[in-house]
Amino acid sequence: AKVGIIFGGKSAEHEVSLQSAKNIVDAIDKDKYEVVLLGIDKDGKWHLNDQSSYLLNEENPKLIQLNKTNKGVAVVPGESSNQLVNTSGSDTLSQLDVVFPIVHGTLGEDGSLQGMLRIANLPYVGTGVLGSAVSMDKDIAKRLLKEAGISVANSVTFTKNKRNQINYQAVKEKLGLPMFIKPANQGSSVGVSKVRNEEEFYAGIDDAFLYDHKLLVEEMVNGREVECAVLGNEDPQASIPGEILPQTDFYSYESKYIDEKGADLAIPADLSEELTKKVQQASVEVFQTLNCEGLARVDFFLKEDGELVVNEVNTLPGFTRISMYPKLWEISGISYPELINKLIELAID
Ligand code: DAL
Ligand code: MG
Repeated sequence: AKVGIIFGGKSAEHEVSLQSAKNIVDAIDKDKYEVVLLGIDKDGKWHLNDQSSYLLNEENPKLIQLNKTNKGVAVVPGESSNQLVNTSGSDTLSQLDVVFPIVHGTLGEDGSLQGMLRIANLPYVGTGVLGSAVSMDKDIAKRLLKEAGISVANSVTFTKNKRNQINYQAVKEKLGLPMFIKPANQGSSVGVSKVRNEEEFYAGIDDAFLYDHKLLVEEMVNGREVECAVLGNEDPQASIPGEILPQTDFYSYESKYIDEKGADLAIPADLSEELTKKVQQASVEVFQTLNCEGLARVDFFLKEDGELVVNEVNTLPGFTRISMYPKLWEISGISYPELINKLIELAID
């Protein structure tokens, strides 16, 4: 089968996507699948095969350095010149049997790309339009989870047009200190700040608004950071959970991808059998509540009293060298090539 791997993209997680795509391309069974590379550069232009492979070949460690000029907020659907669809590239799309989109964040993970593939009548790996959109938006995702009786961190949501109504004292009274500020639609902790005072608060607000017109201020949940991988469609399965052991103030973009000593991963997480089951059940419940399909990684805080609080859900989780999703399946008995195979089969299913 001909598999189109779409990667890169205009989002702030462009560099992360290149690393994810590289690992997928390295691991995919080449006897079984013919790989067609479809790279989207930071301007939103599409590149095919040879032209796109340059996006995969960068060895420069700075590759993954966060580029603040490449803000999620600058992304306006429909604004990009889509050369692939407009020109001879349409032939390429119609020759594909299935697509593995591994574009993280805005436009790639939020339902936009999924909508385009759906209209193009192409099966694709992962969650559909609705599930992608609601999972990407931390504000909407939390509302749906709360309604289903699933615990999430207390938070308040603000939009940019009401920036002048944001009041440190009022928010502090509600959430306590420290607090986290997060753009509503972002991944990899881009634009996220941990704040402990008024100055940091307003700086964090301004930074988050660089990436989205909507942000969340969240209470800090004291707990272990436990993550679980989910795989499947109607009958999704949960992996053995893993744990993030941050070595810095929090699990920031830098600690994820830049600082070698930024965080340790415990795979598997050191959990009792009972807690492992609880995490797995909750992961599947979250997956289904948010209309996820194919794959997702569900991130939790595990409080001392055993309560699980959902932090967020990633419908196109990272496949970089430090990423949990493929590692959790590996220890759960599914090798990397097998995992990719399963994901493609689930897409065609
Ligand atoms: N958003 C990044 C890619 C992750 O969740 O792994
Ligand atoms: Mg994320």
